[in-house]
Amino acid sequence: MLATFKIFRHNPEFGAAPHYDSFKLEVDPMERVLDVLERLKGEQDSTLTYRRSCAHGVCGSDGMKINGRNSLACQVLIRDLKSSTITIDPLPGFAPVKDLAVEMKPFYKNLESVIPWQIADETKFPELERRVDDKHSQRVEEASRCIQCGCCTSSCPSFWFSEQYLGPAALVKAFRYVFDPRDSGNEQRREVLNAERTGVWRCHTIFNCAEACPKSIDTTYHIQELKRWLATGKTE
Ligand code: SF4
Ligand code: SF4
Ligand code: FES
Repeated sequence: MLATFKIFRHNPEFGAAPHYDSFKLEVDPMERVLDVLERLKGEQDSTLTYRRSCAHGVCGSDGMKINGRNSLACQVLIRDLKSSTITIDPLPGFAPVKDLAVEMKPFYKNLESVIPWQIADETKFPELERRVDDKHSQRVEEASRCIQCGCCTSSCPSFWFSEQYLGPAALVKAFRYVFDPRDSGNEQRREVLNAERTGVWRCHTIFNCAEACPKSIDTTYHIQELKRWLATGKTE
């Protein structure tokens, strides 16, 4: 089928105003949007800029807004867009760097602030191998699937208002460790998560984030559970 790709272009180096470029090309309905971007870059415009790495929904680097929805370009089939005109924008809420690439530093800063690694108490877990039972493993399994693509945080109105707000991706990551019984860093995380203007209470349960997640992680549920933990101190 013949399709038109309208792609957001922005190159601050040359001072040109942001605009859309249109490309027409024959596509296979079973092609992925990332495949088409690769063809456009290889055959029509080598300056077209976007991020990608694994091309298989693992690295999280090709988040972009495709026909109005935050998605991973490597996971979206042309067929499923049900339109011969496909508009691609950078992820909203982040500053554009060039074309579809955005500034992710605030996102990573927020992620880092929740201490996204396990702090082990050697006295409780003297063994080298720290085993966890099935029940607790399943509790954090969904949060562990996060690939830090930013699709959720980019769709969050609270993050649009202030990039100081941790955002759903960082909160899902916090959940991963707060609810892991082998971890003993919760008092340090409590302070960050409970912060009035930047922590979990800035979430107004609008559900945009859960809809945007390409890994089907129920971000809002995880945020609610963090609120419950902050209010009650219970992780069970
Ligand atoms: S549910 Fe919370 S974190 Fe998710 S989009 Fe809404 S305000 Fe943002
Ligand atoms: S929760 Fe989902 S949308 Fe958010 S960063 Fe993780 S994988 Fe991406
Ligand atoms: S390129 Fe890695 S997730 Fe799409």
